[in-house]
Amino acid sequence: MNDTSAKKVLLSGVQPTGRPHIGNYFGAMRQYVELQETYESYIFIADYHALTTIQDKDTLADLIFNLAVDYLALGLDPNKVTLYRQSAVPQVTEAAWIFNCLVTVPYLERAHAFKDKVVNNQIPSMGLFDYPVLMAADILLPRADVVPVGADQKQHIEYARDIALKFNTTFGETLSLPEPLILTDVATVPGIDGRKMSKSYGNDIYLFASEEELKQRVMSIVTSSVGVGESLDPETDNVFALHKLFATPDEITELEDRYRTGSIGYKEAKDLLWKQMNNFLAPLRDRRAEIATDKDFVTDVLAAGGKKAYARYEETIAILREKIGL
Ligand code: ADP
Ligand code: TRP
Repeated sequence: MNDTSAKKVLLSGVQPTGRPHIGNYFGAMRQYVELQETYESYIFIADYHALTTIQDKDTLADLIFNLAVDYLALGLDPNKVTLYRQSAVPQVTEAAWIFNCLVTVPYLERAHAFKDKVVNNQIPSMGLFDYPVLMAADILLPRADVVPVGADQKQHIEYARDIALKFNTTFGETLSLPEPLILTDVATVPGIDGRKMSKSYGNDIYLFASEEELKQRVMSIVTSSVGVGESLDPETDNVFALHKLFATPDEITELEDRYRTGSIGYKEAKDLLWKQMNNFLAPLRDRRAEIATDKDFVTDVLAAGGKKAYARYEETIAILREKIGL
């Protein structure tokens, strides 16, 4: 299906499963804001996906509202971006069923998210097992050209491409193939323990953290046991890796030099880092606090976005129904 509009279509989403962290921002959310002028953007709150982990009505409602506030505080402009809840476009669940009939169990067993659960001896729900298929529907129904995500989601975009191809070879050319948009320098932001920053590892730094919370998290970043005055390796240091996200190129070069010559210790590097983070994040935090007080505004944005997205998804699902003979 080809669109006649001049702009290419961008789609992405985040699950409302917890507070967004610096990895979410630099890996994915910042791109949504930067690209909102260039693309016709659809950004959603993946609430059906969140059901794989959040199974409490009030908690889910709270997390959904808060993620909408986060998106707006980061600078998504509802006049430019269609912002909505996944559950406002239930066509994705219908499409997921159609796609389910085109993929095999061994194929889905190769998904990383599923394998991780099995390795950790958890029994995955059908929802988790089927996650990549629903995600393919998220991407294919709005006919996305590009999908900005962090590196950990690359495999999911490949599933969406495979599923589009499978549909096309089975029922005739219908769906176009989406491309991932992954920024290589921030593909995986490290957490305070050096592993990938993730809500589920407890190693994250909350994006809208207070100054005090930022300081406390930065001070607990794991570092090597090199003594004061000795040379530090910027390549392997977590403090330095996070610094690179917030500092200017000149500041990075200077810091790198100080690391190598041993003229900075971890205490000073951490102090510099939390202050720099705070300068960057304070305006976002203030804007967030302001938006959070205007519940009606947030609800209206989601309702309007949901209506617009619904119309677009409906066009695609109608074609899928016709192609499969239903
Ligand atoms: P989490 O692993 O914390 O639960 P999500 O799965 O909700 O994060 O990810 C939301 C978005 O943020 C995805 O596009 C994901 O690729 C990106 N992302 C998550 N963690 C990181 C990270 N540490 N570095 C870069 N991008 C990330
Ligand atoms: N799986 C993504 C994550 O965990 C969230 C998501 C669901 C998504 N559907 C999507 C991202 C479609 C991009 C496109 O972060």
